[in-house]
Amino acid sequence: MLQKLKELEKESQLKIDKAKNLEELKEIKVRILGKKGALTTLLRSLGTVAPEERPVIGKEANNLRAKLEQAFERKEYELRDAGKENQWEKERIDITLPGRPGLLGQKHPLTLVTEEIKDIFIGLGFKVAHGPDIETDFYNYEALNFPADHPARDMQDSFYITPQLLLRTHTSPVQIRVMEKQAPELPVRIIAPGKVFRRDDDATHSPMFHQVEGLAVDTDITFADLKGTLLLFAREMFGSEQKIRLRPSYFPFTEPSAEVDISCIMCAGKGCRVCSDTGWLEILGSGMVHPNVLEIAGYDSRKVTGFAFGMGVERIAMLKYGIGDLRQFFTNDLRFLKQFGE
Ligand code: DAH
Repeated sequence: MLQKLKELEKESQLKIDKAKNLEELKEIKVRILGKKGALTTLLRSLGTVAPEERPVIGKEANNLRAKLEQAFERKEYELRDAGKENQWEKERIDITLPGRPGLLGQKHPLTLVTEEIKDIFIGLGFKVAHGPDIETDFYNYEALNFPADHPARDMQDSFYITPQLLLRTHTSPVQIRVMEKQAPELPVRIIAPGKVFRRDDDATHSPMFHQVEGLAVDTDITFADLKGTLLLFAREMFGSEQKIRLRPSYFPFTEPSAEVDISCIMCAGKGCRVCSDTGWLEILGSGMVHPNVLEIAGYDSRKVTGFAFGMGVERIAMLKYGIGDLRQFFTNDLRFLKQFGE
């Protein structure tokens, strides 16, 4: 019997050593240690052994079972690790391949144009100022010489939060906020870029868009300063051949007021589809600061004068880059956005 156990041990060890994979090993285990396995079957014949030998053989058999179980376990680990190694082999990283570059963002065309506008005016000695997107009726309208019920309020269909609070419809309220703080110090020379909001939505209007406001106040500011500043701006922005044209207009906070056109950048003023055959493109509103506005902001309108202007950033960007639909700026289509940028 002991001999048989020895043989079984040898045989089993051999089989375990030869197992090629986990399934095979499992099968071998069942055949040796399972309910109908070789070791179990051998133990069943323990009854035929002389009673005094039984404890010895029983002990040996248990030892063998423990030994084999250990051997199976060891082999199991071995096979498992080998499997892993194979997997690593397959998934090994090839460090000689070129790397995949990370996706880098770039500046939005409206950011680029805003920065360009800012740079031009900073070069002329203007400082950059900011105001809140949510404004009071006072700053957005009243102080800019739009009394309640003034018909010019209708030109800017507004988003109201409360009767006295609205999303600013233009950047002009920053004029008041800056002067109020600075008065009576001179000179005032600021531009104010930012978001504005109106109830409009089509190919050339968006409920949120961007403006850059400009304001210069000093003792001897004239209409010629306004015109010279804007001509320089147009040339810096659109090319040194640019012409500008001022047309009389109306804004409550400027007097006189003018709309400013640049010569059409598509046809150089000859007349085309883009400029509706006029040769001119409107780019901004402007004028001499109304005395009421200077006064309400703390300046003596008998001693100081000023000019102001306000331009739409989307409009300038559309002209500069030849973009037909303003909504392209806000749909985040990378095929569009990737065409600009640094
Ligand atoms: N705030 C005006 C608008 O949004 C634009 C404007 C016109 C601004 C004349 C000015 C100005 O500063 O002087 O329609």
